[in-house]
Amino acid sequence: MPETSVFDSKASSYDREFTHSYFGKIQRQNIHDFVKTQLGGKTNLEILEINCGTGEDIAFLQQFGAVTATDVSAEMLEIASRKNPQANIQKLDLNSSFHFERKFDLIFSNFGGLNCITPERLMELNKELRNILNPGGQMILTFMHSWSLMEFLYFFNKVKWKKAVRRMSKKVKFHEMDIYYYSAKDLDNIFSDFRIEKKYATGILLSGAYMNWLGKKLKITEKKAQWMFPMWGADHRVYVMKRR
Ligand SMILES: C[S@@+](CC[C@H](N)C(=O)[O-])C[C@H]1O[C@@H](n2cnc3c(N)ncnc32)[C@H](O)[C@@H]1O
Repeated sequence: MPETSVFDSKASSYDREFTHSYFGKIQRQNIHDFVKTQLGGKTNLEILEINCGTGEDIAFLQQFGAVTATDVSAEMLEIASRKNPQANIQKLDLNSSFHFERKFDLIFSNFGGLNCITPERLMELNKELRNILNPGGQMILTFMHSWSLMEFLYFFNKVKWKKAVRRMSKKVKFHEMDIYYYSAKDLDNIFSDFRIEKKYATGILLSGAYMNWLGKKLKITEKKAQWMFPMWGADHRVYVMKRR
Protein backbone atom coordinates (compact mmCIF):
# COMPACT_ATOMS: atom_id res chain seq x y z
CA MET A 1 0.00 0.00 0.00
CA PRO A 2 1.55 3.40 -0.87
CA GLU A 3 2.19 5.85 1.96
CA THR A 4 -0.51 8.21 0.63
CA SER A 5 -3.27 5.67 1.30
CA VAL A 6 -1.88 4.68 4.70
CA PHE A 7 -1.57 8.25 5.92
CA ASP A 8 -4.87 9.27 4.29
CA SER A 9 -6.57 6.59 6.34
CA LYS A 10 -4.70 7.62 9.52
CA ALA A 11 -5.27 11.37 9.13
CA SER A 12 -8.57 11.71 11.03
CA SER A 13 -7.27 9.86 14.11
CA TYR A 14 -3.65 11.10 13.99
CA ASP A 15 -4.08 14.09 16.30
CA ARG A 16 -6.18 12.18 18.82
CA GLU A 17 -3.85 9.18 18.92
CA PHE A 18 -0.52 10.98 18.70
CA THR A 19 -0.50 14.80 18.65
CA HIS A 20 -2.80 15.22 21.66
CA SER A 21 -1.62 12.14 23.57
CA TYR A 22 0.52 12.64 26.68
CA PHE A 23 3.66 11.16 25.12
CA GLY A 24 3.10 12.96 21.80
CA LYS A 25 2.63 16.34 23.46
CA ILE A 26 5.77 16.00 25.59
CA GLN A 27 7.90 14.77 22.69
CA ARG A 28 6.73 17.65 20.48
CA GLN A 29 7.20 20.25 23.24
CA ASN A 30 10.75 19.05 23.81
CA ILE A 31 11.51 19.29 20.09
CA HIS A 32 10.05 22.80 20.00
CA ASP A 33 12.24 23.82 22.96
CA PHE A 34 15.28 22.40 21.18
CA VAL A 35 14.43 24.11 17.85
CA LYS A 36 13.98 27.44 19.66
CA THR A 37 17.51 27.19 21.04
CA GLN A 38 18.77 26.40 17.52
CA LEU A 39 17.01 29.25 15.74
CA GLY A 40 17.46 31.83 18.49
CA GLY A 41 15.74 35.11 17.71
CA LYS A 42 15.49 34.56 13.93
CA THR A 43 12.26 35.83 12.44
CA ASN A 44 12.86 36.16 8.71
CA LEU A 45 13.77 32.66 7.53
CA GLU A 46 12.35 31.03 4.41
CA ILE A 47 11.20 27.67 5.77
CA LEU A 48 10.19 24.52 3.93
CA GLU A 49 8.39 21.96 6.04
CA ILE A 50 8.31 18.49 4.53
CA ASN A 51 5.98 15.77 5.87
CA CYS A 52 3.90 18.40 7.69
CA GLY A 53 1.08 15.93 8.41
CA THR A 54 -1.84 17.61 10.15
CA GLY A 55 0.10 20.88 10.30
CA GLU A 56 0.69 20.90 14.04
CA ASP A 57 4.09 22.61 13.67
CA ILE A 58 3.12 25.31 11.15
CA ALA A 59 2.17 28.02 13.68
CA PHE A 60 5.26 27.20 15.74
CA LEU A 61 7.53 27.54 12.69
CA GLN A 62 5.89 30.80 11.58
CA GLN A 63 7.52 32.66 14.49
CA PHE A 64 10.84 32.12 12.67
CA GLY A 65 9.73 33.25 9.21
CA ALA A 66 7.64 32.36 6.16
CA VAL A 67 6.58 28.72 6.03
CA THR A 68 5.77 26.53 3.02
CA ALA A 69 4.29 23.33 4.47
CA THR A 70 4.10 20.17 2.38
CA ASP A 71 3.02 16.54 2.59
CA VAL A 72 2.04 13.73 0.22
CA SER A 73 -1.28 12.88 1.89
CA ALA A 74 -4.32 14.87 0.72
CA GLU A 75 -6.22 14.01 3.91
CA MET A 76 -3.36 15.21 6.12
CA LEU A 77 -3.12 18.42 4.08
CA GLU A 78 -6.87 18.98 4.41
CA ILE A 79 -6.58 18.95 8.21
CA ALA A 80 -3.42 21.10 8.10
CA SER A 81 -5.27 23.70 6.01
CA ARG A 82 -8.27 23.72 8.34
CA LYS A 83 -5.96 24.34 11.33
CA ASN A 84 -3.87 26.95 9.49
CA PRO A 85 -6.23 28.66 7.01
CA GLN A 86 -3.73 31.41 6.08
CA ALA A 87 -0.73 29.12 5.60
CA ASN A 88 1.00 28.23 2.34
CA ILE A 89 0.31 24.48 2.14
CA GLN A 90 1.17 22.32 -0.86
CA LYS A 91 1.21 18.72 -1.93
CA LEU A 92 4.73 17.31 -2.26
CA ASP A 93 5.71 13.69 -2.71
CA LEU A 94 9.29 13.15 -1.60
CA ASN A 95 9.45 10.03 -3.74
CA SER A 96 9.37 12.13 -6.92
CA SER A 97 11.83 14.84 -7.91
CA PHE A 98 10.56 18.35 -7.21
CA HIS A 99 11.28 21.91 -8.13
CA PHE A 100 10.90 25.20 -6.23
CA GLU A 101 11.30 28.67 -7.67
CA ARG A 102 13.14 29.85 -4.59
CA LYS A 103 15.61 28.54 -1.99
CA PHE A 104 15.11 28.04 1.72
CA ASP A 105 17.07 28.82 4.89
CA LEU A 106 15.56 25.93 6.84
CA ILE A 107 14.15 22.57 5.83
CA PHE A 108 12.19 20.98 8.66
CA SER A 109 10.70 17.53 9.08
CA ASN A 110 9.15 16.30 12.30
CA PHE A 111 8.26 12.87 13.63
CA GLY A 112 9.57 10.39 11.15
CA GLY A 113 8.02 11.25 7.79
CA LEU A 114 11.48 10.56 6.37
CA ASN A 115 11.40 7.05 7.84
CA CYS A 116 8.90 6.29 5.05
CA ILE A 117 11.62 6.90 2.46
CA THR A 118 14.07 4.23 1.24
CA PRO A 119 17.82 4.71 1.79
CA GLU A 120 18.28 4.93 -2.01
CA ARG A 121 15.74 7.74 -2.34
CA LEU A 122 17.15 9.53 0.72
CA MET A 123 20.52 9.59 -1.06
CA GLU A 124 18.86 11.37 -3.99
CA LEU A 125 17.11 13.71 -1.54
CA ASN A 126 20.51 14.55 -0.08
CA LYS A 127 21.29 16.30 -3.39
CA GLU A 128 17.79 17.62 -4.11
CA LEU A 129 17.40 19.18 -0.65
CA ARG A 130 20.89 20.63 -0.77
CA ASN A 131 20.05 22.30 -4.09
CA ILE A 132 17.09 24.17 -2.61
CA LEU A 133 18.93 25.29 0.52
CA ASN A 134 20.58 28.72 0.70
CA PRO A 135 24.28 28.82 1.60
CA GLY A 136 24.43 28.81 5.40
CA GLY A 137 21.06 27.08 5.47
CA GLN A 138 20.24 24.11 7.66
CA MET A 139 17.95 21.11 7.94
CA ILE A 140 16.33 20.04 11.20
CA LEU A 141 15.05 16.51 10.67
CA THR A 142 13.40 14.23 13.20
CA PHE A 143 13.71 10.51 12.55
CA MET A 144 12.34 7.54 14.44
CA HIS A 145 15.50 6.15 15.93
CA SER A 146 17.03 2.77 15.09
CA TRP A 147 16.39 1.45 18.58
CA SER A 148 14.27 2.39 21.56
CA LEU A 149 15.11 0.97 24.96
CA MET A 150 11.62 1.44 26.41
CA GLU A 151 9.93 -0.04 23.37
CA PHE A 152 12.27 -3.04 23.59
CA LEU A 153 11.53 -3.56 27.30
CA TYR A 154 7.78 -3.12 26.83
CA PHE A 155 7.39 -5.67 24.03
CA PHE A 156 9.96 -8.04 25.54
CA ASN A 157 7.94 -8.10 28.74
CA LYS A 158 4.78 -8.82 26.71
CA VAL A 159 6.60 -11.77 25.07
CA LYS A 160 6.31 -10.00 21.70
CA TRP A 161 9.95 -10.58 20.89
CA LYS A 162 9.70 -9.92 17.19
CA LYS A 163 8.21 -6.51 17.91
CA ALA A 164 10.79 -5.89 20.65
CA VAL A 165 13.63 -6.03 18.13
CA ARG A 166 11.78 -4.74 15.07
CA ARG A 167 13.73 -1.48 14.77
CA MET A 168 17.01 -3.38 14.63
CA SER A 169 15.92 -5.15 11.45
CA LYS A 170 15.97 -1.66 9.81
CA LYS A 171 12.91 -2.27 7.60
CA VAL A 172 9.49 -2.89 9.11
CA LYS A 173 5.95 -3.15 7.73
CA PHE A 174 3.47 -0.57 9.02
CA HIS A 175 -0.02 -1.21 7.59
CA GLU A 176 1.43 -2.68 4.39
CA MET A 177 3.87 0.19 4.08
CA ASP A 178 7.64 -0.08 4.58
CA ILE A 179 9.26 1.93 7.36
CA TYR A 180 13.04 2.29 7.50
CA TYR A 181 14.96 2.87 10.72
CA TYR A 182 18.15 4.89 10.49
CA SER A 183 21.06 5.24 12.92
CA ALA A 184 23.20 8.40 13.12
CA LYS A 185 25.89 6.55 11.16
CA ASP A 186 23.42 5.64 8.39
CA LEU A 187 22.30 9.27 8.12
CA ASP A 188 25.87 10.53 8.13
CA ASN A 189 26.55 8.31 5.08
CA ILE A 190 23.29 9.11 3.30
CA PHE A 191 23.39 12.90 3.77
CA SER A 192 26.96 13.20 2.52
CA ASP A 193 26.48 16.82 1.39
CA PHE A 194 25.69 17.79 5.00
CA ARG A 195 27.46 17.70 8.33
CA ILE A 196 25.47 16.59 11.34
CA GLU A 197 26.05 19.48 13.74
CA LYS A 198 23.86 18.37 16.58
CA LYS A 199 21.71 15.46 17.73
CA TYR A 200 18.89 15.60 20.20
CA ALA A 201 16.86 12.74 21.62
CA THR A 202 13.24 12.67 22.76
CA GLY A 203 10.99 9.81 23.77
CA ILE A 204 13.60 8.22 26.01
CA LEU A 205 10.96 7.19 28.57
CA LEU A 206 7.80 8.36 26.79
CA SER A 207 8.41 6.19 23.76
CA GLY A 208 4.87 5.15 22.82
CA ALA A 209 1.17 5.16 23.66
CA TYR A 210 1.82 2.43 26.25
CA MET A 211 3.61 5.10 28.33
CA ASN A 212 0.66 7.55 28.32
CA TRP A 213 -0.91 6.35 31.57
CA LEU A 214 2.32 6.14 33.58
CA GLY A 215 3.73 9.31 32.04
CA LYS A 216 0.66 11.29 33.03
CA LYS A 217 0.50 9.78 36.52
CA LEU A 218 4.17 10.45 37.28
CA LYS A 219 4.17 13.74 35.31
CA ILE A 220 7.18 12.56 33.32
CA THR A 221 8.57 15.38 31.17
CA GLU A 222 11.76 13.62 30.10
CA LYS A 223 14.01 16.47 31.19
CA LYS A 224 15.83 14.35 33.81
CA ALA A 225 16.09 11.38 31.44
CA GLN A 226 17.52 13.63 28.74
CA TRP A 227 20.10 14.89 31.17
CA MET A 228 21.00 11.39 32.40
CA PHE A 229 20.87 9.45 29.09
CA PRO A 230 21.04 12.12 26.40
CA MET A 231 21.26 9.77 23.41
CA TRP A 232 20.21 6.42 24.77
CA GLY A 233 17.73 4.42 22.70
CA ALA A 234 15.15 7.17 22.31
CA ASP A 235 11.98 6.92 20.22
CA HIS A 236 12.93 9.95 18.09
CA ARG A 237 16.12 11.75 17.29
CA VAL A 238 16.44 15.24 15.89
CA TYR A 239 19.39 15.98 13.62
CA VAL A 240 20.63 19.46 12.82
CA MET A 241 22.40 19.27 9.46
CA LYS A 242 24.36 22.08 7.83
CA ARG A 243 25.42 22.27 4.20
CA ARG A 244 29.03 21.25 3.69
C1 LIG B 1 4.26 10.43 11.37
S1 LIG B 1 3.63 11.64 10.28
C2 LIG B 1 4.39 13.12 10.88
C3 LIG B 1 3.53 14.33 10.61
C4 LIG B 1 4.00 15.67 11.18
N1 LIG B 1 5.31 16.04 10.70
C5 LIG B 1 3.96 15.73 12.67
O1 LIG B 1 4.89 16.29 13.25
O2 LIG B 1 3.00 15.28 13.29
C6 LIG B 1 4.50 11.31 8.79
C7 LIG B 1 4.05 12.15 7.62
O3 LIG B 1 4.92 11.87 6.52
C8 LIG B 1 4.14 11.93 5.34
N2 LIG B 1 4.82 11.21 4.27
C9 LIG B 1 5.03 9.88 4.15
N3 LIG B 1 5.60 9.59 2.97
C10 LIG B 1 5.77 10.77 2.32
C11 LIG B 1 6.28 11.13 1.04
N4 LIG B 1 6.70 10.21 0.18
N5 LIG B 1 6.27 12.43 0.67
C12 LIG B 1 5.83 13.38 1.53
N6 LIG B 1 5.31 13.11 2.74
C13 LIG B 1 5.28 11.81 3.15
C14 LIG B 1 2.82 11.31 5.73
O4 LIG B 1 1.77 11.62 4.85
C15 LIG B 1 2.63 11.85 7.15
O5 LIG B 1 1.86 13.01 7.15
